[in-house]
Amino acid sequence: MISRCLIVFLCILVSSLSAEIVEHPFPEQLEWSGQWIGLDVERDAEYAPPVYLAKTFKVEGAIKEAIFYVSGLGIFDPYLNGERITESWFSPGWTDYNKRVYYRAFDLSDSVQQGDNVLGAILADGWYSGHIGWTKFKRNHYGTKPRFNGVLVLEMTDGTQQVVSTDDTWQGRTGPQAYASFLRGERYDARLDSTAWSVEENAGSAWRSVDTGSEMTPLIQPHPSPRIITFAELPALSVDMREAGHHIFDFGQNFAGVVRLNLANTKAGQEIKIRYAERLKDDGEMYVENLRSAEATDYYICKGGASESWTPRFTFHGFQYVEVSGVTEAPDLGLVTGLAISNDTRKVYAFESDHPLLNQLVSNIYWTQRANFISIPTDCPQRDERLGWTGDAQAFVGTAAYICDVRQFFNKWLTDLRDSQFENGQIPMVAPAKVVNRPGGPGWSDAMTIVPWELYERYGDRSILEDNYEAMRKYVDFLVTQSRPGLLPPEKFHSFGDWLNHKADTPRDVIYQSYFAYSASLVARSAEVLQRPEDVVKYTQLAEAVRASFVEAHVDSEGKIYGKNNKGKRAGDTQTCYVMAIAFDLLQGEALAQAKLHLVRKLEERDGLLSTGFLGTRDLLHALSLSGRDDLAYGLLLEQRYPSWLFPVTHGATSIWERWDGWTPERGFQAISMNSFSHYAYGAVYEWMVQRVGGIYPTASGFTEYTIAPVLPPDIRDENAMLKQVSFSFDSPVGLIRSEWKQIDGDTVDFVVEAPAAGQGVFRVDVPTAARIEIDGEPAAIVDDVYTQPLVAGVNRFRLVYD
Ligand code: BGC
Repeated sequence: MISRCLIVFLCILVSSLSAEIVEHPFPEQLEWSGQWIGLDVERDAEYAPPVYLAKTFKVEGAIKEAIFYVSGLGIFDPYLNGERITESWFSPGWTDYNKRVYYRAFDLSDSVQQGDNVLGAILADGWYSGHIGWTKFKRNHYGTKPRFNGVLVLEMTDGTQQVVSTDDTWQGRTGPQAYASFLRGERYDARLDSTAWSVEENAGSAWRSVDTGSEMTPLIQPHPSPRIITFAELPALSVDMREAGHHIFDFGQNFAGVVRLNLANTKAGQEIKIRYAERLKDDGEMYVENLRSAEATDYYICKGGASESWTPRFTFHGFQYVEVSGVTEAPDLGLVTGLAISNDTRKVYAFESDHPLLNQLVSNIYWTQRANFISIPTDCPQRDERLGWTGDAQAFVGTAAYICDVRQFFNKWLTDLRDSQFENGQIPMVAPAKVVNRPGGPGWSDAMTIVPWELYERYGDRSILEDNYEAMRKYVDFLVTQSRPGLLPPEKFHSFGDWLNHKADTPRDVIYQSYFAYSASLVARSAEVLQRPEDVVKYTQLAEAVRASFVEAHVDSEGKIYGKNNKGKRAGDTQTCYVMAIAFDLLQGEALAQAKLHLVRKLEERDGLLSTGFLGTRDLLHALSLSGRDDLAYGLLLEQRYPSWLFPVTHGATSIWERWDGWTPERGFQAISMNSFSHYAYGAVYEWMVQRVGGIYPTASGFTEYTIAPVLPPDIRDENAMLKQVSFSFDSPVGLIRSEWKQIDGDTVDFVVEAPAAGQGVFRVDVPTAARIEIDGEPAAIVDDVYTQPLVAGVNRFRLVYD
């Protein structure tokens, strides 16, 4: 029997409890008693309504503690007595549901009341059975029966315990949402969210016993990753009232999330339609073609009244603009509020300079990271894709960890990555492995070695390597077994190449062996950390052997790097060839010296412009620094011509574009088949900025030892220098590190660096012969044109004075 409380639960849908997620492992002495429950309602390709699940229970006696443990196959919002328990989104997130699913725990000690209570959940398809990937309306990737699973454990003050679990005594029904899908959007009829929820008024017809049992039996484990939150609310900055009765709002920022509608004077049954877009077309209309089959449209059917408000809960979109139609009054800016969502990864960076375009670039990197860190690191948040592309993740992880604290977020994804590893050790294109469960190939599959290693270096947490070592080793062993004699690539293998390069295709075999050698070397380094001496020897030798094979196969007598293109013809000599060879340490002696010169030559051939794609771009500036050409790296960083990082910024970008030419004045938008304006891969440049411009990098894992070695731009003495002032801060694992420099005048540059109490930092800067370092007006000792100084905790000041 469903009691009055249930009616209350159903009536007050908009408020939410203050219950917070608690780090509460499920009690060891208890068995997880929750059953998988759902409601097997009619579904077709387009229509699958979220369902409401509820159970009344009685409490008598004083409660000491009440913890609600919840999990699901699908996504859900948990409720108690008509109030949503949490503001966080899309629990329990995306995993390989065949293998594992996570639970979260909520402390309801202050919310459970004496007498009747109603526990509940709204359950939607999410990643489990909703639309994901690009096949129009392809859904049910894991199953057709979303499920919820929960256990409420009540500890009473008298020492007794009461447990309320999901089981066949729960009741279910559909509600105001006709459907809710990540790609399609959400349709909500508010007329159904009040009286229609009353069991009495509907003569109980809508409620029935839930269906139990699940299509799979995953492990239920504590959630390792931070929850997904609304991390920012954005007001609309402007509205364009279009003639046709639709209004386009601009939030001034590309982000992922939804909008909250704030309506006034509505009529019952009035339909409000919200469309989402990243850009506008020349005619001012929404550019939605790049969303491909993602409909990305929400509908709200009004209840009618003086005011009403609605926020979709089971979908999200990637956008800067929304188009609202169906309002009768001229809208004001308050009609919509943008809710930007992302995993709760703490922001650890601050950047400012006197170069507004550069400031905007870094802001774009931050926003693109947040927009794509929603349960897993995705390629993009807007079109019918949103997958955990391995190549994108490995290219960006180094930057991501300088922007936010992503340790737990990526740790969780590494579990997804291991879960996706093929029997033979190969790693797929995406993790969780859905939609394209195929070998990733060089630069993509290598996420398996690169991501754990980068995280270990940044956070100094050995357990990251412990957890992943077997998978890393297995992947590299797989590369060995599939090689041709001489550690050459197999005859056939998949490769995306240097994806989205600018007319400079790097041969697949060159990429293959570069990444092979690099991955082998990372396994060797990991083995060293984990004290596995035999493996250190084995993988060090392997890395050396692959390097030797690389040199023999690809480096000619002039040090030029060639391989074979897809037609089997000799090709190569691209910027990316040399970037990989230098950054992955593939060459030595004369060959290395030549590669550095060739990289410079390749830039000159392009009139100083880059030609790299996803793989080459990550390390392009690092490779130039390693070549002693920071001047060229600065040139590329501050370049505004196409292709460059600042080119999109000069055209109003508020995020990182998938392609160098997502939009150009000459050609307009790129092909709609692939034109995301929120793809982080090219944002990987921030790592170089922090490490060279700010000079902050670890010399021991986890920043227990670190260096601050800023490198000044070549024209720093000019009055019109391109960059005269920067400030970087980074909240590292040992505390806040800050690095600033500023040109005071043509003869003076001031450095201010801040060191935390923990960790051992060293400041280092090159000092030209005709210059000196002063501390409090006193000259300091310079050795071999370098000034080096261990840092004391707090603020340290140095002045570079040119004679
Ligand atoms: C994705 C990428 C991904 C690529 C593979 C695209 O569709 O958006 O970012 O890495 O496919 O080449």
